[in-house]
Amino acid sequence: MSAERLEYTDEVAQATLGIYKKLEDQYKAEHWKTLAPYIYEINRLKREKNAVILAHNYMTPDIFHGVGDVVGDSLMLAQKAAESDADIIVQGGVHFMAETSKILCPEKKVLMPDMKAGCSLAESITADDVRKLKADHPGIPVITYVNTSAEVKAESDVCCTSSNALKIVNALGAEGHDTVIMTPDKFLAQNVAAETDVKIIIWEGSCMVHERFSAEDVRRMRAQHGNVFVMAHPECPPDVMAESDFSGSTAQIDNYIKEHKPAKAILMTECSMGGNIAAANPEVKIVGTCQMCPHMKRISLPKILKALQTEEPGVHVDAEISKRARVAVERMLELS
Ligand code: 13P
Ligand code: SF4
Repeated sequence: MSAERLEYTDEVAQATLGIYKKLEDQYKAEHWKTLAPYIYEINRLKREKNAVILAHNYMTPDIFHGVGDVVGDSLMLAQKAAESDADIIVQGGVHFMAETSKILCPEKKVLMPDMKAGCSLAESITADDVRKLKADHPGIPVITYVNTSAEVKAESDVCCTSSNALKIVNALGAEGHDTVIMTPDKFLAQNVAAETDVKIIIWEGSCMVHERFSAEDVRRMRAQHGNVFVMAHPECPPDVMAESDFSGSTAQIDNYIKEHKPAKAILMTECSMGGNIAAANPEVKIVGTCQMCPHMKRISLPKILKALQTEEPGVHVDAEISKRARVAVERMLELS
């Protein structure tokens, strides 16, 4: 790409005007002029290379609204990766998401704009840990949150996301399992356990973003903001969930807002969610606090552009691990 193409030309301004109209409350005009050329060039290169960008709800609004082709929660991104006929997938998200895409589409090039974009949940458990759990609890099926490495998925019977965890646990319950192992998020497991008769053996992992919210935060913000609708992600501790009006995955939160348009909402989740929802729902006021995920925030427009230009770095998953992990991911997709 030539240096000129990165200039904010009339052509760039015109091509990105519709996006800017959505985002002008969030980006000052001068800042937008530095972002728009990247959006323009990324979108051009995507067409040229038959590439698709999967953007998680925690991507910043310039990425989410500017270059994301498929946007959504972890489940939706996995489903769309499986269906995509693109040659290249660029993962707007963290490493475990790119691995899931590669597991489902081994023939495609899956690019990760920053390989250091990890996840505290994925780091909390290893394949060895799962093998030990299985040895300690023979015959008990292992349900693993998608926020894990391919090796951990390969040791598991079925995966889940925050949007289908309860469904998956109950599906195994209906198959006759009165107990399941759920890894690695202790809060997601506790929140699911509160809604099912299936006994859940819990692993002690947590999300470094959602574990920071407290029930006291919810009470303080309610006092500060009056009549406000509080929405919490199920990676939050159970007492936060108990104080909230709604709980769901990032896509379920998004869908609820689109459908019900609460006048004022607090989102107990990652900060970019609020920006993305505000841009798409100008009549809803997002108030209160949020927490930033340092891993998600490693992904930027310049890094996405570089990944598309160089077709690096690519995500690789060992073929044998991939085959076994795919069984667990596909079983989840079937059950959801
Ligand atoms: P969902 O988008 O599936 O709700 O997951 C949230 C999350 O923390 C992903 O890292
Ligand atoms: Fe992992 Fe939490 Fe960040 Fe999601 S928000 S990537 S679960 S650390």
